[in-house]
Amino acid sequence: MAVTINTLREYKQKGEAFSALTSYDSTFAQMVSESGVDVILIGDSLGMVLQGHDSTLPVTMEQMVYHTDCVARGNRGSLIMADMPFMSYGTIDAALDNAAELMRAGAHMVKLEGTDWMKDTITALSERAVPVCAHLGLTPQFVNKFGGYKVQGRDEQTAQKMIEHACELEAAGADIILLECVPAPLAARITQAVKAPVIGIGAGAETDGQILVVHDMLGMTTGRVPRFVKNFLAEADSVQDAIAAYAKAVGERTFPAEEHTFKA
Ligand code: KIV
Ligand code: NA
Repeated sequence: MAVTINTLREYKQKGEAFSALTSYDSTFAQMVSESGVDVILIGDSLGMVLQGHDSTLPVTMEQMVYHTDCVARGNRGSLIMADMPFMSYGTIDAALDNAAELMRAGAHMVKLEGTDWMKDTITALSERAVPVCAHLGLTPQFVNKFGGYKVQGRDEQTAQKMIEHACELEAAGADIILLECVPAPLAARITQAVKAPVIGIGAGAETDGQILVVHDMLGMTTGRVPRFVKNFLAEADSVQDAIAAYAKAVGERTFPAEEHTFKA
């Protein structure tokens, strides 16, 4: 049966962890969905992974629509989430038009990076039938504001702010919260504070779901391997086996382990 937002809510209620991976093309999408991964993200990470840029900022709507279309054709029942690229939701009108394009291409939900300023945008999308995932913590589109890719929410003041923002964005209509590179104790607090399912990457083992970039979990990271990445192909016989092992490890909460986690 196809995964929906309700499936993810049920996982949270039962305390069962669900898995997510990025895909950018039809072949990966089919393998990922047939391996039992619940959510497929067409991440704007494709700007780095596929295009070789040093950030996600150059990615365009046209490219996101193309890759969403490719993924949708390969998908076999996972929930498809598509990233809204840099400045494609700078105004509410732009957000509505651009989200509609991604939904027409086959997305079931869109993901936006930001904090409390996104409240009205999320409400507008949600009221017009577009489910939203709000991405907090290390939001890569903010790399130039952050001055690099750094763990977020390390001091109590910024941690408190992140909890408030997650609650406000949920109240505004966000159906999923995604936390990237935040200390595990903070991710656990946010996961308890909101009813919406919380997906983590570099956010410890206590979020409701986990996500990785598919190339990373297959050992295809170019450059420095982030702390939160595990190469599942190292102990698998095939790409399909590696993806299935990832889904199983997430479901059993054996991934992420301590060594993949930021403690504080
Ligand atoms: O673009 C992406 O791949 C992402 C995930 C890492 C969460 O946003
Ligand atoms: Na992204």
